Amino acid sequence: MADVGIDAIEIRTGKLALDLAETFAPEMGEAPEKYTKGLGIYSSSLPDVYEDIVTMGANAAHRLMERQGLNLNDVGRIDVATESAFDNSKPVSTYIAGCLEQVFDGNLHHANKGERKFACISGTQSIDDAYNWIRAGRNRGRAALVIATDTALYARDDPGEATQGAGAVAMLIDTDPDVVSLSKEQGYGSADETDFLKPNQQFPSVDGKRSVQVYLARMREAVEDYESVAGDVRPEDFRFAPFHTPFPGMVRKAAMLGYRHMVRDTDIEDSLAPEIGRQPRREAFEDEDAFRDAVREYMDALKETDQYREWFGHAIEPTLDIAREVGNWYTGSVHVARASALKHAAERGEELTGEGLFIGSYGSGAQAEIHAETVQEGWHEEIEALDIDTQLDERYDLSFAEYEEIHDVHNHDKAVEVEELTAPTGEFVYDGRGRMNERKYRYVD
Ligand code: CAA
Repeated sequence: MADVGIDAIEIRTGKLALDLAETFAPEMGEAPEKYTKGLGIYSSSLPDVYEDIVTMGANAAHRLMERQGLNLNDVGRIDVATESAFDNSKPVSTYIAGCLEQVFDGNLHHANKGERKFACISGTQSIDDAYNWIRAGRNRGRAALVIATDTALYARDDPGEATQGAGAVAMLIDTDPDVVSLSKEQGYGSADETDFLKPNQQFPSVDGKRSVQVYLARMREAVEDYESVAGDVRPEDFRFAPFHTPFPGMVRKAAMLGYRHMVRDTDIEDSLAPEIGRQPRREAFEDEDAFRDAVREYMDALKETDQYREWFGHAIEPTLDIAREVGNWYTGSVHVARASALKHAAERGEELTGEGLFIGSYGSGAQAEIHAETVQEGWHEEIEALDIDTQLDERYDLSFAEYEEIHDVHNHDKAVEVEELTAPTGEFVYDGRGRMNERKYRYVD
């Protein structure tokens, strides 16, 4: 059977930017380096007053479909992945379909629509659903639209406020894909965790420090599970490793552990031994604390080696470029990381066709998933068509007072009227509430 994967991709950022080092840090009484160096984020994308998860998702899907010359009959399925839904019954995909029906001829009455929830991993799970639907031969030759869209806002003064973001990634899943094909092999690391959740509330309850540990633990399990079906993973097996990026500093921690795991018992470990010794083995230590101390010491030394730095700069750093400018997009985050890496390669004229990607998705609560992807021939043209740089350049730079107002506008518990900061053109906008409290949308030329 033909390969199935991502045939097209489109990214839509919220139209406002909060500069974290210049604008946010001073108001929080923090050093700018906490953001630029520690967390690794320079600014957060936030939605203007007329933007939300529907407009960002619909605008991404609209541009994708126009660029691909698709009509509504070509789409047999719309799955929205989000953890920012505003309705416990009516899925966001119905709103997005309604938007698309405003601008394309025909309708989406025969497309299957749904909404996926498992924190940030649900974008990847929606791709899985589409993959399985196509592989099962139930798609009648049609493609699936997967839209990962979130307004990742935290309560004011929550430590997570430093990592906010808003944006959407639309992806077309089809046979003979132009961007990447997906491996059949997958690995999971999943456990009942209480690290980050929203029990019927808009802003998350977060145990931030614990969430970092849970991310690493589940990711490690997922890698081991993946290796049990696909064989050992080595650094040379893939060109980039795009991971879920709540903030780049998180990926830096995961990359360090991942590299240590991948090079164990390889020529790389041997070549590093004269400089930093061999990796501590559990069986050589009598107690767990001594083993952990030795691992910490080894990791500190490994981090400083040329081999590790080169690998990180080559395989990981390029996946973080966009995240540094936009913050966390929850369900869209790992898909932004993939696009970021491909964009980096395209800008340098690198030929990637046939190269491997090692994808690490993660959702709090918690589950990690690992799979591999193979870059396809049409990747370059598709990635070159992205206009994310223009969107980032055109964002409105918020003052702190404006940020406070915008946060209130998007707080479901507050009813504040604030003027829009940007002027919508050629896009869907939020247009108030209807008689059953439903949200309404219209297209602005
Ligand atoms: N110069 C350089 N570095 C500095 C610095 C300075 N002046 N000040 C602080 N730093 C560093 C710190 O050392 C730290 O780095 P390390 O962890 O490598 O030591 C980093 O900057 C952050 O500083 P703090 O740990 O002091 O920051 P914090 O306590 O305010 O909160 C956080 C950090 C817990 C991640 C918080 O932002 C948070 O709760 N975020 C939301 C939860 C989250 O994103 N968790 C990630 C895993 S869960 C997930 O992935 C799902 C999801 O999308 C939410």
